[in-house]
Amino acid sequence: MNFISSFLSSILTPKVKDLKKGSVPQHVGIIMDGNGRWAARRHLPRVVGHRAGVATLRQVIKTSVELGVKYLTVFAFSSENWDRPQREVDFLMDLFVDTLGQELDSLNKNGVKIKIIGSKKKTPEKVLQCFNHAEDITSSNNKMVFNIAFNYGSRGEIIDAVKNIIRDCRRGKVDIEDINEKLISSYTYTRECPDPDLIIRTSGEYRISNFLLWQSAYTEFYFTRTLWPDFSKKHYLRAIQNYQKRNRRFGRVQ
Ligand code: FPP
Repeated sequence: MNFISSFLSSILTPKVKDLKKGSVPQHVGIIMDGNGRWAARRHLPRVVGHRAGVATLRQVIKTSVELGVKYLTVFAFSSENWDRPQREVDFLMDLFVDTLGQELDSLNKNGVKIKIIGSKKKTPEKVLQCFNHAEDITSSNNKMVFNIAFNYGSRGEIIDAVKNIIRDCRRGKVDIEDINEKLISSYTYTRECPDPDLIIRTSGEYRISNFLLWQSAYTEFYFTRTLWPDFSKKHYLRAIQNYQKRNRRFGRVQ
């Protein structure tokens, strides 16, 4: 039985080389959800799920580079996540610092440019330093931009954008009549990236949870019940294959 299912899985799972022939999404966003439930199912502390989630992320970054994805944005810590138990928040802060410390060299060698998107408020000093270092070291890489959404909330991002536009209007740098979609995009945290083509959410939750609200007006969504630590290369390739079958019309008729 095991042999049959692994045989079927191997022929049903698309290969990177085949997917590269189709339209690979330029920008992929991911809501990495389900770490806590993955751990709970194994009667383990939630933090074990977060640690397992890092291995998934490593694989997804590697596969994204392999596929030729140009921008990968992951929702690592939301502006609402500070309300989790302090021990979990502390664990996550250490996990970000440790993971970036361990992976930086390899990310750099693979041409990945790291960008942190989100509000800098509340962020512990050691995390800020680690983020700044990662951004500095990788700043001239151009294979793929890896955006880490940290202390990120899209409504907060939009509020920041509105405030900055008003400031620039007052300074005479922006004319009210020139405010359009392009200008607003240029005030978001993702101003250097195109809008996401595909957003994946794991764990069977069907919501956006304040992630890239402005940017996802025409994004394709892919929801899977697979929990983030179980989201393997096979699952990722299937999500990309599913995206390649979509007919994107951007509101037009074809
Ligand atoms: C959501 O699962 C996951 C998180 C809040 C953290 C994800 C972070 C990582 C995988 C580490 C990433 C590392 C770097 C350096 C970017 P959940 O806790 O909400 O799971 P649940 O819904 O099952 O409770």
